[in-house]
Amino acid sequence: MVSTRTADDLQKEAVLNALVVLRLTHAALRGMTTRNMGDIIQISSAVAFYPLPDGATYAASKAFVNSLSEAVNRELRGTGVRITVVCPGFTRTAIPARLGFNETNIPRRLWQDPEAVVEVGLRAAARGKTVVSGLMNKVGAAMAYYLPRRLVLPYIERLQKPGLERAAASSPG
Ligand SMILES: NC(=O)c1ccc[n+]([C@@H]2O[C@H](COP(=O)([O-])OP(=O)(O)OC[C@H]3O[C@@H](n4cnc5c(N)ncnc54)[C@H](OP(=O)(O)O)[C@@H]3O)[C@@H](O)[C@H]2O)c1
Repeated sequence: MVSTRTADDLQKEAVLNALVVLRLTHAALRGMTTRNMGDIIQISSAVAFYPLPDGATYAASKAFVNSLSEAVNRELRGTGVRITVVCPGFTRTAIPARLGFNETNIPRRLWQDPEAVVEVGLRAAARGKTVVSGLMNKVGAAMAYYLPRRLVLPYIERLQKPGLERAAASSPG
C-alpha cells in the first residue's frame, strides 16, 4: 500500500522504472536517429494495462513506459528506428520469488521463463511490432480493458495476495 512505504522508496521505484527509461531512450535515440537505424526494446509488464492495487507505483510506472514508447514509436515512423515494448507476466526471476509468488500460489499457465520473454521480444522487434505480450497476458489486458474496474480490481487483488502477505510479514510495523 502506498501509505505503508516511504515516499522516498516509492519515488525511487518511479524514477528507476519510468524516468530512467525516458533518459536512456532519449540518449539512445540521438545516435539511432542520426544513423537512421536501430531498435529499442523496452521491458514493461503485463500490469501496464491496468491499475494494480498494492503495486500502484509499479503499474503506473510501467503504464508510463508503454505510453511513452507507443507515442515515440509513432513519431519515428518513416525512419529506420523502432521501439518495441515487451509486457511479460509472471517470469521466473528473482523479483516474483522475493515477493512470495511461485507456482503453488499462481497458476502455472501464467508463468514464463526469461529466455522465452527475450525470444518473444527479439522476434517482435524483428517484425516491427510495437507492443507484445504472451497470450495469457493479452487475455488479461483485454479483460482489464473491457470489464468494469469494479470486477477487475478485486480479481487482481486476489492474485496479488501472496505478495501482500509476504510484504505484511516482513514489514517492521
Ligand atoms: N520477473 C517478472 O515476473 C517480471 C514481470 C513483468 C516485468 N518484469 C520486468 O522485467 C525487468 C527485469 O526484471 P527481472 O524480473 O529480470 O528481475 P531481476 O532478475 O531481479 O533483474 C532486475 C535487474 O534490475 C537491476 N536493478 C535493480 N535495481 C536497480 C537500480 N536501482 N539501478 C540499476 N539497476 C537496477 C538489477 O541489477 P543487479 O543485478 O545489479 O541488482 C537486475 O539486473 C524489470 O523491469 C521488471 O519490472 C519482470
